[in-house]
Amino acid sequence: MTEKKRILSGMRPTGRLHLGNLHGALENWIQLQRQYDCFFFVADWHALTTDYATPGDIHGNIWDMVLDWLSAGLDPEYCTMFIQSEVKEHSELYLLLAMISPLPWLERNPTYKEQQQQLEQKDLATYGFLGYPVLQAADIIMYKANGVPVGKDQLPHVELTREIARRFNFLYQREVFPVPDALLTEVPVLPGTDGRKMSKSYGNCLFITEPEEVVTEKILKMMTDPARVRRHDPGNPELSPVFAYHKIYSSPQEIAEVAEGCRTAGIGCVDCKKILIKNVTARLRPIREKRLALEQDMGKVKEIIWAETDRARKVAVQTMEEVRDTVGLNSFR
Ligand code: TRP
Repeated sequence: MTEKKRILSGMRPTGRLHLGNLHGALENWIQLQRQYDCFFFVADWHALTTDYATPGDIHGNIWDMVLDWLSAGLDPEYCTMFIQSEVKEHSELYLLLAMISPLPWLERNPTYKEQQQQLEQKDLATYGFLGYPVLQAADIIMYKANGVPVGKDQLPHVELTREIARRFNFLYQREVFPVPDALLTEVPVLPGTDGRKMSKSYGNCLFITEPEEVVTEKILKMMTDPARVRRHDPGNPELSPVFAYHKIYSSPQEIAEVAEGCRTAGIGCVDCKKILIKNVTARLRPIREKRLALEQDMGKVKEIIWAETDRARKVAVQTMEEVRDTVGLNSFR
């Protein structure tokens, strides 16, 4: 039997997932879970690196996100889903990796500076925030992952993980950790309802478990080609966020029809949006229904996640034994 390759990825607990998260990462994970030996986890310690002053918000976000994962189709039969802070071994590996991570590698990490500028209302001149990618490296190599499915924004972190893994193997003269590859997937860019990037901080999100009335209302208010002011003005569908959604949710025939209708002013924006509303609500309905059912039985959901977390911990415990041996931390006993 050829062993399945192992992949691992994590998300910071930001709460309910939006359509950008669904098409950007989650659908990809769902696809991968049958092909690979998958580990997916809630990176709650990573959330603390930026939200350390308001840790209370993180707790609700963890379960909100787990519920959305399960509702959308991540299946504990196929993948191991866990919560980072429940596997304390991550913190020990993080500490040992900190010893061997050269400061300049961390200081030159582009996301470090970028995030500090973007989140300027938070004080991110902390040791923990600088160490963010070291913790991420620990997450990844703990499970000896071969691949890490991530978006482009995470590439510098995966690159750093590769360097840290190589450095560990080199320093201690043992191939303990495979050097993981980033698995970049081409994902459709789904703009927010106002045409900018979909983001909670912009308030332009459609959430995956939104009630149908809300989906309808948000799509009806959505921006379209700004140059198409009156009903008889011809428009350019490529300039309309609504069309970006059609490309994901509508049939090839519908896509062709709304594009043609927009260019020729054959249909109005409301007609075009109505077709989209029908398709988006049909697609999200089973996800929302599953979520409503799961919410009724949180005890069971937690039971599943604790069992899954135990499964992850078994692997982590094993890796740490090997790591301690390799670094020489077992030999003084
Ligand atoms: N940094 C990732 C993000 O912001 C989350 C993350 C933490 C992660 N540890 C990871 C992703 C390990 C992949 C692998 O989305």
